[in-house]
Amino acid sequence: MADSLSAEALDQLFLTARTQNKWLDTPVPDSKIHELYDLLKFGPTSANASPARFVFIRTPEGKEKLKPALSSGNLAKTMSAPVTAIVAHDAAFYEKLPQLFPHADAKSWFTSSEKLAEVTAFRNGTLQGAYLILAARAVGLDTGAMSGFDNAKVDEAFFAGTTWKSNFLVNLGYGDPSGVFERLPRLSFDEAARFE
Ligand SMILES: Cc1cc2nc3c(=O)[nH]c(=O)nc-3n(C[C@H](O)[C@H](O)[C@H](O)COP(=O)(O)O)c2cc1C
Repeated sequence: MADSLSAEALDQLFLTARTQNKWLDTPVPDSKIHELYDLLKFGPTSANASPARFVFIRTPEGKEKLKPALSSGNLAKTMSAPVTAIVAHDAAFYEKLPQLFPHADAKSWFTSSEKLAEVTAFRNGTLQGAYLILAARAVGLDTGAMSGFDNAKVDEAFFAGTTWKSNFLVNLGYGDPSGVFERLPRLSFDEAARFE
């Protein structure tokens, strides 16, 4: 049985970790992004399907491609972030199930139900996006998730002719604390949960 993480680790992952709106110039090496992927890939998904796909945009050309899709409130911070991750999922994720879930014919569960495939891709792709946020914090990066953008434009610019679909964006880098908003309240346990 493992103990709880240290107070420092809990701060870094949850308690003092904050959504960032301004970024320092400090670059993020590609090796850091590999480090973060090599953690997030171990977060659980149904049938180990791992439907999330990621594009880590860190060049000016990539940012220009993303720019027309961004809402005005997300523009400046995204253009200045060292890296912006597109969290996407592959609608045809089941093609990889013979590799990822080799002990059963899991592919047929999804090829026989378009609805189940769609729900599974979105549910697990979103979970993997959350794993990305926590993995980023675990390797010392700050994050800023965003759904304020035009998904159709992102899909057209980055995923035309593929089965990948964008879900949300996450800016990654080292945050400038001057851009952090006041912490918003959270629901108490009794407001959000109950035992049965
Ligand atoms: C999926 C997702 C989408 C979000 N979209 C936006 C967005 O488009 N623009 C923005 O400024 N913040 C966005 N946020 C940030 C939230 O407003 C922020 O995480 C929340 O207020 C909590 O802030 P905190 O992490 O600093 O406590 C998003 C967060 C998530 C997880």
